Amino acid sequence: MSSPLRHTAVACLTVALWFGASLANAQTASRPETLLRKMTLDEKLGQLVQRAGGRSKSLNSRLDDAELERVRAGAVGSYLHVAGAAPLAKLQKVAVEESRLGVPLLFAMDVVHGYRTIFPVPLALAATWAPESSERAARVAADEATSAGLHWTFAPMIDIARDPRWGRIVEGAGEDPFLGARMAVAQVNGFQGGNTLRPGSLMATAKHFGAYGAGIGGRDYNSADVSERTLQEVYLPPFYAAARAGSGSFMAAFNDIAGVPTTANKDLLRGVLRERWGWQGLLVSDWGAIGELLNHGVAADRATAATLALDASVDMDMVGGVFAEDLKAAVAKDPARLKELDEAVLRILKVKEQLGLFDTPMMYHDTEREARELLAPEHREAARAIARQSLVLLKNQGKLLPLDPQKLKSIAVIGALANDGLSALGSWRAQGKADDVVTFLKGISAAVPPAVKVTFAPGANPRSPDLSGIPAAVKAAKSADVTVLVIGEDYDLSGESRSRSDLELPASQLELARRVLATGKPVVVVLANGRPLALPWLAENAPAILEAWMLGVEGGNAVADVLFGKYSPAGRLPAAFPRVTGAVPFNYAANPSGRPADPDLSKDTVRYHDLPITPLYAFGHGLSYSEFRYGDLAQNVKEIGPGERIDISITVENTGGVASDEVVQLYCRDPVASIARPVLELRGFKRVELAAGARKRITFSLTPEQFAFWSPRGQWLIESGRIDYWIGASSADLRANGSFEITKTHTGSAPAAALPTRVTVSGIN
Ligand code: NOJ
Repeated sequence: MSSPLRHTAVACLTVALWFGASLANAQTASRPETLLRKMTLDEKLGQLVQRAGGRSKSLNSRLDDAELERVRAGAVGSYLHVAGAAPLAKLQKVAVEESRLGVPLLFAMDVVHGYRTIFPVPLALAATWAPESSERAARVAADEATSAGLHWTFAPMIDIARDPRWGRIVEGAGEDPFLGARMAVAQVNGFQGGNTLRPGSLMATAKHFGAYGAGIGGRDYNSADVSERTLQEVYLPPFYAAARAGSGSFMAAFNDIAGVPTTANKDLLRGVLRERWGWQGLLVSDWGAIGELLNHGVAADRATAATLALDASVDMDMVGGVFAEDLKAAVAKDPARLKELDEAVLRILKVKEQLGLFDTPMMYHDTEREARELLAPEHREAARAIARQSLVLLKNQGKLLPLDPQKLKSIAVIGALANDGLSALGSWRAQGKADDVVTFLKGISAAVPPAVKVTFAPGANPRSPDLSGIPAAVKAAKSADVTVLVIGEDYDLSGESRSRSDLELPASQLELARRVLATGKPVVVVLANGRPLALPWLAENAPAILEAWMLGVEGGNAVADVLFGKYSPAGRLPAAFPRVTGAVPFNYAANPSGRPADPDLSKDTVRYHDLPITPLYAFGHGLSYSEFRYGDLAQNVKEIGPGERIDISITVENTGGVASDEVVQLYCRDPVASIARPVLELRGFKRVELAAGARKRITFSLTPEQFAFWSPRGQWLIESGRIDYWIGASSADLRANGSFEITKTHTGSAPAAALPTRVTVSGIN
């Protein structure tokens, strides 16, 4: 990772640090510095220790008297998997009032898509293509979590995922770094309540820094072997954007990149994140990851592992106990380590100060506020509105949807997932409860007039081979006017360590679908899943498919709103759906190759011989109940140089007679450069609301820096030449195109995909 730029940045920073330090000495020391000076070695090490108050599903279960004693002794800096204003108040009071220096604790949890009011899983939030909705969901989660004693969440997960076999694709924003960066910033802002940490914030964690999403074969925790360019252009941009947005914390990834475990990757953590990007927040390891450096085979003993992590600038050891137990010996051997230790402690103390914990440590422990916040009616309303936005209409043959409930006498709701509250909560459900969930069955039953008979038959369960319920389900389908068939994955089929080798529907779900569709009656398929699936048979045979993910507490109401036409679906896929498992990884933003893919099989091109060259459903795909005309494309200039902007405008008109949102997408290509560039790259998007017949003018404003690539010399380079662009409704539905010139080759300073595009929308009468 050595580059001329980095060396200049390091030099400047060293001067700045030295200058800052002498200034600090001359003036009065900050509170964290004063505290640090008073600390014994044991107290310093204590700040680096994060202990588990329970497991993720048994919160607080380990908070016994021995734990209080540790806090009293100043041997703990933070707890995770804890919750509740009252139980955590007890712990905080001991830290503040009974430990020698009264340093407050940090309480953390994976509050990922809601605390008690659970929102759609992050992949579904990304399917809204509405960062403002993602921000709102994170804000609600933060309001609830901070009322329940928490200061810190291990979210957002902003790993780019291009292999849907990876179970954790559900936790992120999908395959694209530009969309991913927008969602990252939105969530950091939502959690923290603004662009800096402040008293009362829920500190965000940008995770898992590195290339965790690039694990070979989609197997969780696996090595990544990506090029420097792919790392810089694809995996790091959301992290750069999160650092710029002021994410208080970062978490290092479990895995290694080309043999260097990220927990010990000094070039990446200290070099890129802290020195080149200038980020100075709290860097936490993943669970036990410092100890796992022994498994990686880069440390022979725990003291060496501790040294490697500290040297790489990891501040806090999540649960592993390596900093607590083995760093002392390492420091004794090498007193130079003391400086790094002090820096780590200082960063932790600074965060505690920013959160207001020194002045008002009990601010997060107001039980009345907690009672008011959790599952507040306005939180549920937000969850319903955002769940509706997450729905993606994949197919709607013959306009089967929306259904008119006035014209129906009976509906069969089929599939165990239709009545499964737990699965609706998805991976990482914090304090979400299955009983809080409006299931698909409940939502549909509540939405239809009382005269409509709703029957339910579970048919088959995704994780069971038992098919004995299918005949009853078929009978229910035969005797109903229409069937809503809910199939997919349950909550435990996607998520951490839930990688799958097969992206088809689970066998029982496919069999249920085959038998129900064989009735020949109208069937609407509602998919509930946490990853792109390979659905060749379903895509061919089901007339209507609505992608409903795992939607949280209001999922059933949201789906009913769409099924019965109260709301026109407008969500878009944040990751492509493959035709078969063997087609992954696949990404629309691929390089052209010397033999670009061609549908003509008689030519030898970059493709599989036994598959079409396109995915089943492309990145950005999603249908609507309305139709839209794109026209009047215009650009204000023909060329731009350094520091200049181009405005590209288009008019979108709702011509389909139904009020609906439309997600307008801008893709670009650098057709001739000194290195091969992707055939398309997302560089702008906007979800706009359009009443029936309404027209809006959307303007995307771009700068040359947004076309920088990571050059072989290790710097961001913008080359002069033509840029082509397209505007459309998905990466496979491009409606208008143009081009402009960049006049001058020059260097940039940031990952191109991390830079936002300014978008303005104006109504037209
Ligand atoms: C391990 C996961 O990788 C990480 O994302 C999570 O925050 C921690 N466990 C804590 O639960």
